[in-house]
Amino acid sequence: MHAHTFQNVNPADSDDIIGLFPISNDDEVHAAVLAASTAFISWSKMPAPKRGDILRKAGDIFTRRKEELSAIMTREMGKPLFETLGDIQEAIDTAYYAATETRRLFGYTAPSEMDNKMNLSFRTPIGVCGIITAWNFPIAVPSWKILPALACGNTVVFKPSEDSPHSAHIFAEILEEAGLPAGVFNVVYGAGSTGSALVEHPSVKLIGFTGSTFTGKKIAERCGALNKKCSLEMGGKNAQIVMPDANIDLALDGVLWGAFGTTGQRCTATSRLILHKDIYDSFINALITKTTQIKLGNGSHPQTQMGPVINAKQLEKIQHYVAIARSEGATCVIGGDVEISGDCAKGNFYKPTIFIDVTPDMTIFKEEIFGPVLAVTKANSLDHAIKLANNCDYGLSSSLFTGNVDAAFRAIRDIEAGITYINAPTIGAEAHMPFGGIKGTGNGHREGGWTAFEIFTEWKTVYVDYSGSLQRAQIDNY
Ligand code: UN1
Repeated sequence: MHAHTFQNVNPADSDDIIGLFPISNDDEVHAAVLAASTAFISWSKMPAPKRGDILRKAGDIFTRRKEELSAIMTREMGKPLFETLGDIQEAIDTAYYAATETRRLFGYTAPSEMDNKMNLSFRTPIGVCGIITAWNFPIAVPSWKILPALACGNTVVFKPSEDSPHSAHIFAEILEEAGLPAGVFNVVYGAGSTGSALVEHPSVKLIGFTGSTFTGKKIAERCGALNKKCSLEMGGKNAQIVMPDANIDLALDGVLWGAFGTTGQRCTATSRLILHKDIYDSFINALITKTTQIKLGNGSHPQTQMGPVINAKQLEKIQHYVAIARSEGATCVIGGDVEISGDCAKGNFYKPTIFIDVTPDMTIFKEEIFGPVLAVTKANSLDHAIKLANNCDYGLSSSLFTGNVDAAFRAIRDIEAGITYINAPTIGAEAHMPFGGIKGTGNGHREGGWTAFEIFTEWKTVYVDYSGSLQRAQIDNY
């Protein structure tokens, strides 16, 4: 048995121990990076469409194992089966997209300023990529990084969250069965120290990270010092705005799904609701009624709508923010406590919680909680609502419910966020579109779609001079 291990426990039932996973030490991280460096030599030279064939096969195997993997994921991190099925579908979509992209990976050509000279540029792989991700999307979010990285000819060392190691293990099994050569994809397990060994390793050329802004900034600092490329997906404090001319039932369903889907544990979760004053009271009343109907429980039960919070530490963090919200004068209209009755007795359950009369100076308006807690604020107008939405250090997702096309286009222009939804909640990004945020959320990269391939490639520019004479750029032609 490995000298150092950690327990993987079902967040819905503390008696259900899934297993022990190793804490990879520096030597093991080194061995994984060495394997990836060695494998890079041939993998990077394999014709890209051949790499694509393997990724397509991985998509087929994810499809075949979808139900089984969904049960494993629900047991390990809690979200209901219908959500874990969606998580795996996002990886399937990403696999097929990455597979076809290996037949594009387009470069550019441009005219030369000289006679008899040709200018080309194309993408080249970077090397060993260190991928560090969170537990809330144990398959989808790693797939956004790992599959494009592999398509581009990079090799990977993956450090999943210590809260979702089993899903990561299945990810590796699937890539192996798909025919990925040994050493191209490697997994190391553990928490911060394992991740930091990966960041520090001189043969790791790029870090792709999803997680907290606190950790992301620390990684960026180290990557800056070590001159490594890094792509960061960090926190959010996403707002849904509702105007009086909206389809109110739709806006209600939207905020319920956005705020309490995945138990509020998405970086795209709706954690702020900004209501126009004319509908403020009526919307809140309807929202409370609908929130009381949400069925909490073990995500593996088909009737469950909202699963547990990931672990005891996160439960404490939510309690802490709720206490602050109360002390700062926000009004809790529903929830505001753990759920310990019936099916929830042995898990980390928190009631769906809504605070109203939240003002921009309050902590729950500003800080990411990562739990089922919604902060509601009143706005006087569309402009005021947008101003409130933008009054935030993060800039990931945003949403506006309105029946007015002019309002929609103004919001699309003026909301400061990487993603804006019109008449849809703040969650629900599709695999083939750029995903990421501005301000405190990111560092300028976008995963998903064609933009992921920008992260995982360098550009090679080539000049071919077939004039037979020395042509000095900028000098001989003017
Ligand atoms: C995340 O919250 O880390 O758009 C990713 C969504 C999902 C992905 C969320 N497709 O909510």
